[in-house]
Amino acid sequence: MAVMESSTKVVLGGTRGGPGVATLRKDRWWLQPVVTMSVLTAFVIYSTWAAFQNRNYFVGANVHRDLVSPFYSPCLTTHCVAGSTVGFVFGLGSLSPALLILIFPLGFRLTCYYYRRSYYRAFWWSPPSCAVADAHVAYSGETRFPLIMQNLHRYFFFAGLIFNSLLTYDAVRAFQQPGLGWGVTVGTVVLCVDAALLWAYSLSCHACRHLCGGNLKNFSEHPLRYRFWKLLTPLNAKHMNLAWTSLIFVALTDVYVRLVASGALTDYKIF
Ligand code: FES
Repeated sequence: MAVMESSTKVVLGGTRGGPGVATLRKDRWWLQPVVTMSVLTAFVIYSTWAAFQNRNYFVGANVHRDLVSPFYSPCLTTHCVAGSTVGFVFGLGSLSPALLILIFPLGFRLTCYYYRRSYYRAFWWSPPSCAVADAHVAYSGETRFPLIMQNLHRYFFFAGLIFNSLLTYDAVRAFQQPGLGWGVTVGTVVLCVDAALLWAYSLSCHACRHLCGGNLKNFSEHPLRYRFWKLLTPLNAKHMNLAWTSLIFVALTDVYVRLVASGALTDYKIF
């Protein structure tokens, strides 16, 4: 007997509430995409401005501090402020080191599964929200250039771990107050919180969770991976919160170091 095949055509740009009606939703469904768009746009504008500044990213021994902005760490070009480098440098003319550094953390965020969902909704309206019509009539997924590049996320994850380690090193160095000894300032706390949030964001990553517990037929033969997977799963549930908190805090950390480095603010010594 022949099997009758039936399929329902999905019209992406179609209506959800009847002819000419994009949705029947009466709530403020548009609020989330608008907030997402505003915060991401503000971050992109600020980080681009900060990356091109190429100054006020390090607070050094002249004020008994060792604070470097996360946007400029590790400082790798020959003209980096003395003390902010990690010992090996490239001669790249007057190019801002942040332009090289930010490729990796921004690549990590840009390809993040959560951010992808957010900016597809906020910027492309694809779809803007649940039960709201797409702004586009076609959808090819992430199978073609440039969106196929989103598959690089797992590699950016590893690069992110290297940057987290470097920022942790910076946070430890911030306990050092050249000429005064060891202590804690507001800057130390800011750099420590920043590094902790970035670790939490990375460890809550879906690729990280898959790395620990994915691609296994059973957990019983992999007790260590099971333990990591169990540890990371609750963190993974907070990935959205960590994505926003760490994004905003990393920008605030740059603002703080910038204000102290420019002399507009004094880094208060706690003890
Ligand atoms: S899924 Fe968001 S950082 Fe990996």
